[in-house]
Amino acid sequence: MEFSKCWLDYSPAEIKEKALFTLAVLCEGSIVESAVKEYDMAIQGMTAVKPEIVKERKPESVVLLLDEFLPVGKDGYEIRREESSYCITGQSESGVLYGVFHFLRVIRTGHLEEFPIQNAPEMPLRIMNHWDNMDGSIERGYSGESFFYKDYEILYNERTEQYVRMMASIGINAIVINNVNVHEKETYLITDTYLEQVKQYSDLFNRYGIKLFTSVNFAAPMELADFDNCDPLNERVAAWWKETAKHIYEVIPDFGGFLVKADSEGRPGPFTYDRTHADGANMLARALKPYGGIVIWRCFVYNCGQDWRDKKTDRARAAYDNFIGLDGQFDENVILQIKNGPMDFQVREPVSPLFGGLKKTNMILEVEIAQEYTGQQIDLCYLLPMWREILDFDTFVRGEGSTVLNIVKGQTHGQKLCGMAAVINTGDDYNWTGNDLAAANTYGYGRLAMNPSLDSESIAKEWTELTFGKAPEKEIVAMLMNSWNTYEKYTSPLGIGWMVTPHYHYGPDVDGYEYDRWGTYHRADRNGLGVDRTPAGTGYTAQYNEPWASVYAEKEKCPEELLLFFHYVGYEEKLKSGKTLIQHIYDTHFEGVEEVEKMITVWKGLQGKIPSDAFDRVSERLERQLANSVEWRDRINTYFYRKSGVLDDKGRKIYE
Ligand code: GCU
Repeated sequence: MEFSKCWLDYSPAEIKEKALFTLAVLCEGSIVESAVKEYDMAIQGMTAVKPEIVKERKPESVVLLLDEFLPVGKDGYEIRREESSYCITGQSESGVLYGVFHFLRVIRTGHLEEFPIQNAPEMPLRIMNHWDNMDGSIERGYSGESFFYKDYEILYNERTEQYVRMMASIGINAIVINNVNVHEKETYLITDTYLEQVKQYSDLFNRYGIKLFTSVNFAAPMELADFDNCDPLNERVAAWWKETAKHIYEVIPDFGGFLVKADSEGRPGPFTYDRTHADGANMLARALKPYGGIVIWRCFVYNCGQDWRDKKTDRARAAYDNFIGLDGQFDENVILQIKNGPMDFQVREPVSPLFGGLKKTNMILEVEIAQEYTGQQIDLCYLLPMWREILDFDTFVRGEGSTVLNIVKGQTHGQKLCGMAAVINTGDDYNWTGNDLAAANTYGYGRLAMNPSLDSESIAKEWTELTFGKAPEKEIVAMLMNSWNTYEKYTSPLGIGWMVTPHYHYGPDVDGYEYDRWGTYHRADRNGLGVDRTPAGTGYTAQYNEPWASVYAEKEKCPEELLLFFHYVGYEEKLKSGKTLIQHIYDTHFEGVEEVEKMITVWKGLQGKIPSDAFDRVSERLERQLANSVEWRDRINTYFYRKSGVLDDKGRKIYE
C-alpha cells in the first residue's frame, strides 16, 4: 500500500550522539510499548541502525520513565539531560508517548539544545471528527475515499496504523469514526453487525492513547428495533439505549461515547416529541454513565427551511436561541459541541456568541480542517491563523480574559470535559490530504489543541521542517501564512460569506444561495449589500456580551473584516481606509489574484528543493487555484459593477 509518511517521515539524518542509540525503558504498559516502537522506528529510519532497547538504566542512553506525581498536568511530560543521558518522564503512559514524539521532533529539527522541556496538553479533549461513510465516500472529503470503510466493510491495514500514529504524534486523544449524518448502515455500527471490527479499531487507538467514539442516529431504536418513536422521555426508549450501551461496553470496555447531530438539517431529534435537547442528550448520557462514557451533542441546529423574503429570521441567531435556555440542564457527562461561528465554517465569521453565553455547560469548540468553504484542498488556505483568532476572542462572560481558549481549556468555568474538535481533511489519496500543503492544517490542528499558546508561524515552520526539511522552509512558511488572507480577498467580501456554488461549495455563484431555503443571504441591491444584524435588524448583536454587543452594532466601531456580516453598507460609503466599499471590493479581488500569481512564482523557485512528486502535485493545485481565483474575481467584480454601476477608479478590466 502506497501512502506518504507525512510529518513522520524519518528519512536519513545525521545523528552522532551515542546516547540516542540506547533506549532504557523503565516503565511499562501498552501505550509505553507504542512509544518504544515509535522510537525504534524513528532511529532506524534516520540512521539505519537499530537502537538497543534495555530494561535498566545505562550511562549514555535515552531513559523512559513514568511518574504519576510529575508536576506537569495530566498526560504531560518532562524531557531533560542527565549527564550524558536524556530522561523522558511521563505523568501517564500517554505522557511518555507524547514525550517521545516531542523528543523525536527535536532530533529531526536539530534543536537538541532546547532541554529541559516540560509540557502537557492544555485542553482535556483533542478530537478528530471523521465524516466518513461506510460506502467509502467522505462527506466534504477532498482527498479520495475513506480509509476506514469500503463497500460497507471496515478496513484495517497498514494505512490505519500509520493514521493512528500520525494522530497520536500531534496529541489527538479522541476520534469519531463516522459521519455526523448517520445513514442506514452506519446506524448498525453500535450493534453486533460491526462491533467486533469497531473493537479492533478501538484496541489500536487505545495503544496510542486515543478513545474511539461513534456518531449515532437518534432514531436508532426505530431503525434497529421495532419502536414507533424515539421520544427521549419514553422509558422503553431509554431502556433500549441502556441495553445497547451495556452491550457496547461488554465488547469494547474502553469505548469513548457518542457524538450526536440531532434536529439538524433533517436529522431526527427530540423536537419531534416536543422535548428539549437536554432531554435528548441526558437520556443518552445516562445510558453511558455507568461505564464512564460521554455524549457530545452538536449545536448546529437551525431552520433550514427558511423563506428568503423573511428578514427577521436569522440563521446566525439559531445556535444561541436553541441552547442558551438549557444552560445548567445537561448532565455532567454531556458536552455541547459548538461550531466556531454562527453560520457554517465560512472564510470569515464572528465567533459564536454561545461561547460567551453558556456558563454551566461543558463546551467543545468545533472547527473544520476539511476545506469545505475554504478552497477544498485545491486552493491553499492555512487555517491556523483563523483558529488562533477564534481562540483568542474574549467573550467577557466572566469579565476580561474569558477567551474562547480559556473556556475550552476549562479555566473560565472550571469544566473538566472540554476542548476542541475538528472535521478532518484526510482520505486515501497518496498524500492523505489532496494538496500536500493541506497537511499543515491537519498537523497544526493537533499541535494547537495540545498547546494553544503556540503561534501559527512556529507551527507552520515545524511542519515544514518535518515534512520537507529546512531548505524550502522560508518560502513555504510565507506561502502558508499569507494564504488565508489571499483566499479571503478573492472570495466573498468583508464577512458576508456564502456566494459559493450551492451544495458543492467550491467556486463562485453570487446569488446561488440568495433565494434558497438555507438562511444564507447577502441582500445585495443597487445601493449596497450586507445583513443588518443590529437591534434594528435581526437583533443578533444582542447575543454578545458587552463590549461586543455595542461594538458590533455600531457601523463605525465594527471590525471591518466583519462589516457586511453585521451591517448593510452602501457601495459608496467610505471604509476606514478611506476607500469606498465598492472600490474595496474591486481592489481586494484584483489583489487576491495577483497574490496567487506570486505564490506560483515562489513555488516554481522551490523546484529541486522538494521531492518532485510533491512538487508536481502542489504545482497542479496552484494552477487550479489561479483559475478559481480569476473566476471569483471576475464574477464578483462584474456582479457588483452591474448592481452599482460604479466604475473601478483604477480603470482595470471589469467585464460588463
Ligand atoms: C455543513 C456541511 C454538511 C454537514 C454540516 C454539519 O452544512 O455542508 O455537509 O453535514 O455542515 O456540520 O452537520
